Amino acid sequence: MRKPLVAGNWKMNGSIETVKVITKAFAKVESDGIEVVVCPPSAYLSALHAANQPKRVVVGAQDVSAYSAFGAYTGQVSAPMLVDLGCRYVIVGHSERRTLCHEDDETVAKKALAAVNAGVTPIICVGESLAEYKAGNSINIVLGQVEVVLNALGVSGMQKAVLAYEPVWAIGTGLSASPQEANAVHAAIRAFLAKTDNHLADNIRILYGGSVKPENAGDLFQEPDIDGGLIGGASLNAGAFLTICEAAKKAKHASIS
Ligand code: PGA
Repeated sequence: MRKPLVAGNWKMNGSIETVKVITKAFAKVESDGIEVVVCPPSAYLSALHAANQPKRVVVGAQDVSAYSAFGAYTGQVSAPMLVDLGCRYVIVGHSERRTLCHEDDETVAKKALAAVNAGVTPIICVGESLAEYKAGNSINIVLGQVEVVLNALGVSGMQKAVLAYEPVWAIGTGLSASPQEANAVHAAIRAFLAKTDNHLADNIRILYGGSVKPENAGDLFQEPDIDGGLIGGASLNAGAFLTICEAAKKAKHASIS
């Protein structure tokens, strides 16, 4: 049984005030049966860790260095440092980093490995561009991205990771893949992983991301191969984010009351 997971990616948004509002809103709910991860900018990780009382959300980062040791890597934050800041998850390979920071599949795989080695769960993002979607190439592109991380992490490393399917054309655009379309990609990822290891294919959590909102979350999470969501814009609003978490609980019959 895969535990549903909803992760909020604030991107370069939010403030100390947002940290306070979100932790206060979640302090009122029980979140057993579903994991709620909040990924603020790294500047606010300590504040989130400190304000998260009682511990209703799990702290996550938005990026990590591919270098796992200390060193002359100006501006970078290593996976062991994220552990010191109370992080248990880190997003890697988000399409904005792939595009704006030119991160390729190999870099993404190195970052995921650095996270796994430090005991931080990477949420590894994959997804096709609009042109690739229009050309009917979504599954090929996504499986290619998954293959690179599978090769780098191996089955044992992948068992400690989460995947997030985020069609690039759906991120921040208001356009979402239909639940059936998204589930077909998730099912294809599982079928691909099953060629290497059935247990991994059955147990890895695969989130959907891209314009998930309170209005469409329930239908997306109802799909059998969608285990939760990676939420951008809507995660900055405590009410909307709570509603999305409730939708995951309801769809997956988990408890958060
Ligand atoms: P969005 O972003 O929900 O604002 O589309 C999702 C993401 O980038 O992870």
